[in-house]
Amino acid sequence: MNVSEHFNLIRHNTFGIEAHCRRFVEYGSADELAEVARLLADSPAEPCLHIGGGSNLLFTKDFDGTILHSTISTFETLDQGDETLVRAGAGWNWDELVAKTIGLGLYGLENLSYIPGEAGASAVQNIGAYGSEAADTIRAVEAVDLKSGEKRVFKAEECEYGYRRSVFKTSLRGRYAVTHVHYALNKTFKPNFSYAALAREIAARGIDPERVTAAEVREVVTAVRRAKLPDPQDVGSAGSFFMNPVVSQECYAQLKSQHPDMTGYPTDGGVKLSAGWLIDRAGWKGYRRGDAGVYPHQALVLVNYGRATGTDIARLAADIQTDVKAKFGVDIEPEVNFF
Ligand code: EPU
Repeated sequence: MNVSEHFNLIRHNTFGIEAHCRRFVEYGSADELAEVARLLADSPAEPCLHIGGGSNLLFTKDFDGTILHSTISTFETLDQGDETLVRAGAGWNWDELVAKTIGLGLYGLENLSYIPGEAGASAVQNIGAYGSEAADTIRAVEAVDLKSGEKRVFKAEECEYGYRRSVFKTSLRGRYAVTHVHYALNKTFKPNFSYAALAREIAARGIDPERVTAAEVREVVTAVRRAKLPDPQDVGSAGSFFMNPVVSQECYAQLKSQHPDMTGYPTDGGVKLSAGWLIDRAGWKGYRRGDAGVYPHQALVLVNYGRATGTDIARLAADIQTDVKAKFGVDIEPEVNFF
């Protein structure tokens, strides 16, 4: 295990915000994490945060406590007939894991190509894109209780998955650190074109949807993401900053009558609106205030053009929320976690 004091987190958050933590602990196995948990138990008042690729974080100040990061990168497979169970260490770079599974002829993650972050976070955040989400394939999650150091296996049902949500973000927030994730992947490729824009993009590239391969889907998804979302190497961001809000049927009907081109998708409990559309229509797309801004190609993404602080980004986010509420009467909530 690696312990650093007064550690600069700039390379551990894709916003590229400079912030320090009191202690940064990197560990390479569940046993090491159990040991760390026992050490942490000696100072229960000290704040502790577990991070993955830092692609969903906004540091608004220094973190006066311990930050944990996993480098567990084991990869095991278990044949289960039509499916193969992949047990991946939480420290896997997500996109490298997607590429590896496709290379092995195991399918189900291709629509989630090129999402920044790590495997552990896929199970906490239930990452999603282009009609797929991590929960579609996750069968179990192994974790360590940060209070007691005990290991626990969560079955998928116990993870309480929802849109960008899991038990690890809600009732058990901060309690468990994910060490391994089990994904059930298909040996036969069945493309998922439930997201209309992906099907259109495949057709536009002259690919026959009946004969498309997983590698082609991966290529198209990657190209679309590259075109819409900033590369954290060039411009700091955390992908979508806000979640898409869900409103009642009545509220949607009323908004739609005022804004006929508004997009909305039926979902559990109402209609999911596009936060990107709302922010765009409120006039924020491409807006810049100092080094904090709204990405010109996707209004859902806030960016750090260089030296923005976490507070600059947080202020901009708050102004956008207030304005969207004033113009459409809709609350939009950040997907990004503030610290
Ligand atoms: N839209 C606009 N203006 C914008 C952005 C979007 O009008 O500036 C409209 C589009 O025209 C489209 C609709 O909003 O009709 C949806 O846009 P898009 O397909 O880009 O998807 P999204 O809802 O904005 C979500 C996810 C993304 C994911 C894409 C593709 C959330 C919060 N975001 O974005 O996830 O890649 O769908 O599936 O659910 C992330 O979570 O970091 C992320 C990038």
